[in-house]
Amino acid sequence: MKTTKTALILYSSNTGNTEKVAQAIRSGLEDAGVQVTFKKPEAAADVDYFNFDLVCVGSPAIQWHPTKQMDDFLKSKMNEYRKQGKIKPCAPKVAGKNLLVFVTYTGPHTGLDEATPAGKYMAQFFAHVGFNIIDEWYILGEFHGNEANSTQGRMGDVRGKPTAEELQKIKEGAKALASTL
Ligand SMILES: Cc1cc2nc3c(=O)[nH]c(=O)nc-3n(C[C@H](O)[C@H](O)[C@H](O)COP(=O)(O)O)c2cc1C
Repeated sequence: MKTTKTALILYSSNTGNTEKVAQAIRSGLEDAGVQVTFKKPEAAADVDYFNFDLVCVGSPAIQWHPTKQMDDFLKSKMNEYRKQGKIKPCAPKVAGKNLLVFVTYTGPHTGLDEATPAGKYMAQFFAHVGFNIIDEWYILGEFHGNEANSTQGRMGDVRGKPTAEELQKIKEGAKALASTL
């Protein structure tokens, strides 16, 4: 018998872009029958990553890092797992524990290179406890409140991003990903 798959979507968002992406992922996963828990780090103190088949962790790139709320959360969770002896040399992979990373960014100065450090960094907190990183999604988003960064940056005119069409593609991507769990 096929058991219901579970996912945790853990995300931070200051101006709404990452939240839109998180909602699109949620919608795609739920369409595929996955049971989703949806949380910001501020309300996630009690979560255990190991209760989920898939964790989706997302943040905007803020000076090429995740938000402080996300960073503080990931560090404190890692300390908990360290105390439980779950951080082992060689970080052996744990079967059935998967991670999707998503980062929204504007890339006004150096483009995608401004976002990948945030994604790689967040992923390491999960890889250290044995999660399999199945994908990293980097999504352009408007730099709300800064027209120059939204129009004159390396990534061009990013006003209105992520668009409804882009969010639909993200939803479909999440649905496809669910079928691999
Ligand atoms: C203070 C601040 C710093 C930012 N730093 C970066 C950055 O280093 N790289 C980047 O690509 N975008 C940067 N951005 C743009 C955001 O990452 C981007 O607009 C993101 O989609 C915002 O997500 P949110 O609406 O979920 O908060 C920055 C935005 C702010 C307000």
